[in-house]
Amino acid sequence: MTSIALSDWLQARLNRQSAVPLYRQLQEALLEAVLEGELPPGRKLPSSRLLAGELGLARNTVIEVYEALSAQGCLETRHGSGTYVADLASERLTPPPAAIAPVAPKLSARGRVLIEDAQVFPRQWGAFMPGVPDVTEFPTRIWARLHNRHWSRANPERLTYAPAGGLKALRVALAEHLRTARGVRCEAEQIVITTGIHQSIDLTARLLTDQGDTVWLEDPCYWGLRHSLHSLGLKLQSVPVDAEGLNWAGLKSPPPRFIVATPSHQYPLGMVMTLPRRQALLEQAKAHGSWIVEDDYDSEFRYGTRPITSLQGLDRDGLVIYVGSFSKTLFPGLRLGYIVAPPQLAESFAKGVAELYREGQLQQQAMLADFISEGYFAAHIRRMRGLYKARREALLAAIGREFGAHLPVTGDNAGLHLVLGLNGADDRAIAREAVQAGIVTRPLSGYYRSPAPPQSGLLLGYACVREDAIAPAFAILSRVLCAALG
Ligand SMILES: Cc1ncc(COP(=O)(O)O)c(C=O)c1O
Repeated sequence: MTSIALSDWLQARLNRQSAVPLYRQLQEALLEAVLEGELPPGRKLPSSRLLAGELGLARNTVIEVYEALSAQGCLETRHGSGTYVADLASERLTPPPAAIAPVAPKLSARGRVLIEDAQVFPRQWGAFMPGVPDVTEFPTRIWARLHNRHWSRANPERLTYAPAGGLKALRVALAEHLRTARGVRCEAEQIVITTGIHQSIDLTARLLTDQGDTVWLEDPCYWGLRHSLHSLGLKLQSVPVDAEGLNWAGLKSPPPRFIVATPSHQYPLGMVMTLPRRQALLEQAKAHGSWIVEDDYDSEFRYGTRPITSLQGLDRDGLVIYVGSFSKTLFPGLRLGYIVAPPQLAESFAKGVAELYREGQLQQQAMLADFISEGYFAAHIRRMRGLYKARREALLAAIGREFGAHLPVTGDNAGLHLVLGLNGADDRAIAREAVQAGIVTRPLSGYYRSPAPPQSGLLLGYACVREDAIAPAFAILSRVLCAALG
């Protein structure tokens, strides 16, 4: 390319109306010319004065571009002689591969396990999305005040990498709360702050299992936990649940190293593991050297009876790893949760969380510590419990009006959703129809691992639906149900 041809080629690529600075545009155009071979190695470039004149740019702009490309090794300046295109090929560490085949996006085996089965739903709000609290009721004014308090005199130590385990003030406030509200036996040192139960389970499994180990999981269970454990290369063994919770009586093999359960509120069916079953599980774990991960995701919300104390509170042998979250009590986007590790594991867990994920959000943690210790957390839970109770009753009444006892309701004593039984009808097809009609539900069969789930149903979340919106939303759903059930 002659000097004139080069300036025409560059001119055609400069867009003077664009928000991208001309300096950046010229740099990218010259780089493209070199990489595409329009400017071969050794080719002398016009002087900055000449090129600036031909392109109508300031000379300094061209000088800066030549300097930036020289710093990248794309051009070289020979003093007294001018600027030349560098020989990029001679700088290569390895020769280019003979034929470059187009690269198809190819996931690893464990990547495929995770992605092919993904169930994350694009809509996470509205009737009847299960598992989502009413985030519009979060006391934003109080949060804003705490935000100002902490950001107006931001402590530099809170803006850097976090100390292993999370902010001391939050661990202290949380330990106090968990001891009184959930009967968890713990000191602040046992608490490790995470971004939620997903991360807590990932860390716990990485620290306590090896690839190929077996894990006991309830069937049905929350698919998010199932997928993260499966993608770590663990073998999942499904354990049925009955009215008393996890029931391993029919299994041939002894308990494995790792057991995950939701004893205080089975997810998604809603039963509570009875005291004899809890004791038996702890005995089994002790006899076989198993760890039990207790997922206590939403036990703060019980309607009628008082919250049930945790399994961890019964454990005298340091076998239970208790995991909890602020996703249901405050809002899921906060991404804060916690692990209560047995004392002998606490230090390793604190180091593990820092090594694997790097921690942060110390300012949020400081705000949350104040939110708990100044009584706002307990008050918010109390208030939401009242609201959710009324919404649950509105939904039960709507179901009763439309279907009487024809469709059974289970799991309605606690949490943020209930299960509407469908007497064996195709719950996946009905859930798809409901989404078309504007109502989000989750089919119960999606939570089972077995290809032939023993029951079909819909999870109906009522927590994030205003009380007066429940009956109209259920009327839409009942039209879908009547059409499907005949
Ligand atoms: C049983 C169960 N465990 C854990 C979670 C996720 O918790 P987090 O948001 O803290 O990761 C959910 C979310 O729906 C859940 O249902």
